[in-house]
Amino acid sequence: MDKNFYITTPIYYPSASPHMGHAYSSIIADFLARFKKIDGYSVYFLTGTDEHGLKIQRAAEKKNMDTLEFCNQISKTFKDLSKTLNLTNTDFIRTTEERHKKSVKHLWTELEKSGDIYLSKYSGWYSVSDEAFYNEDEVEDFEGKKIASSSKSFVEWLDEESYFFKLSKWEKPLLDFYNKNPNFICPESRKNEVISFVKNGLKDLSISRKSFSWGIKVPNNNHHVIYVWLDALTNYISALNYPNIEGDLFKKFWPASVHLIGKDILRFHAVYWPAFLLAAKIELPKRVYGHGWILSGDQKMSKSKGNILDPLQIIEKYGLDPLRYYLIKEVSFGNDGNISQDRLEDCVNSDLANNYGNLCQRVTAFAIKNCNSKIPDNIKFEKEDLNILSKYNNNLDKLRSNIDNQNINSYIEYIVNSLFEANKYFNDQEPWKKKDNVIRLNTIVFTTLEIVRKITFLLYPIIPESSLKALKIFNLSEEDIDFSSISNNEFLNKGNNINKISILFEKIEKKDD
Ligand code: MSP
Repeated sequence: MDKNFYITTPIYYPSASPHMGHAYSSIIADFLARFKKIDGYSVYFLTGTDEHGLKIQRAAEKKNMDTLEFCNQISKTFKDLSKTLNLTNTDFIRTTEERHKKSVKHLWTELEKSGDIYLSKYSGWYSVSDEAFYNEDEVEDFEGKKIASSSKSFVEWLDEESYFFKLSKWEKPLLDFYNKNPNFICPESRKNEVISFVKNGLKDLSISRKSFSWGIKVPNNNHHVIYVWLDALTNYISALNYPNIEGDLFKKFWPASVHLIGKDILRFHAVYWPAFLLAAKIELPKRVYGHGWILSGDQKMSKSKGNILDPLQIIEKYGLDPLRYYLIKEVSFGNDGNISQDRLEDCVNSDLANNYGNLCQRVTAFAIKNCNSKIPDNIKFEKEDLNILSKYNNNLDKLRSNIDNQNINSYIEYIVNSLFEANKYFNDQEPWKKKDNVIRLNTIVFTTLEIVRKITFLLYPIIPESSLKALKIFNLSEEDIDFSSISNNEFLNKGNNINKISILFEKIEKKDD
């Protein structure tokens, strides 16, 4: 079986500092990547920055900075954020790197060779903020100006010579592809949007600009720069050393398992990107997942609305793992989600401190006191112990399929239920009343410790730092985490020492409203 997994985030525009929406995409991708890694996959996880185009050129001009210097500065804040978010990305690609430029130029010449590019003139609307072309029926009036109806960003009229990609030619092959690969576009609701857009008829796409210079030059015509989306989308293969398609990296990881993106950039990923790849005779990615937006006060975050939530401030106040946990659990994946600090605090208090942290502390303290600080070795499972332990084994495939289908909320819901059940088991079994029955006391402690171990393995992709801290109870480290070992009911080494650990999550004092 193919045990390779390639996941990508969008590459972010370094036009301003990263915000919560960017952090969200990256955290979800990291969660999926970490899960696959502990499930024995070879994982390639790509993120990076999208640095060409008029949007970036203008942002640099506004700051009176050289464009590349400006990109260097802001791209670094994204790279730093990857570290702050504890991402396990394998690579961080910048579209201003030579390796990327080489790939984009090569892809262009392939499209040219296949007869998919011609020179003409573009007359129509363009949004610099979205770096997107819009039809007349996609724009509307707003305070005497024109805006794109979908994104509400301003559009300007363009009249310039441009190269075109014969997108119209790919309408039928794309529809056939969607039909044959019903899971290519997720979630389902967004798939329908895309299909009806394609069915409405595809117009050829302008793929070069002549009126500014910040971009990759069109091969053999340096008056034009390549359209920033054709440039940016290529990052997914340039990171795998395209055009070296016989190279190890490309052979191992292409086609991508999932391109994780926000819903606003679905058209680029589910229509344009597959069409470019079809024209260049490159296999298509297996899935494009368009998640919803993180809303702040019911609106998408944007600089102009002044409602940006800064992930760094939240991390500073609550720590990284609470933020990761909260975003993964509380935003219904695929839909928009309003986030609030109040809900985040509830999550920390009820799930992380009360439910998980408390279970870890209680059973460890009890074992230290009553089992000589050791993992008990004189045990005999009863039916109720095996009942609770074997549930994990029975659910392994379901959890795997949750991840493969990006049913993120179901995955975490399983953990929350398991935590309730584990706490109830420990309470109901009342080991403190079993001091005259050592075997029974030992077995309850052992069973609960095993459950803590299993749940901690499950939590690792979500809250890696705290999980590793919890695993210190058993002297286990990152290398020991293996998803399939969740089916093992006697993974822990009996007789080994148990360590006391400091509190995993402090409860947050909430002000009464
Ligand atoms: N540079 C392009 C992507 C090119 S990928 C080949 C781009 N960059 S972006 O920085 O504007 O946005 C990056 C991602 O962040 C997009 O997927 C976008 O949907 C996501 N988000 C931006 N704001 C968001 C929220 N408020 N909430 C969730 N995600 C949002 O588009």
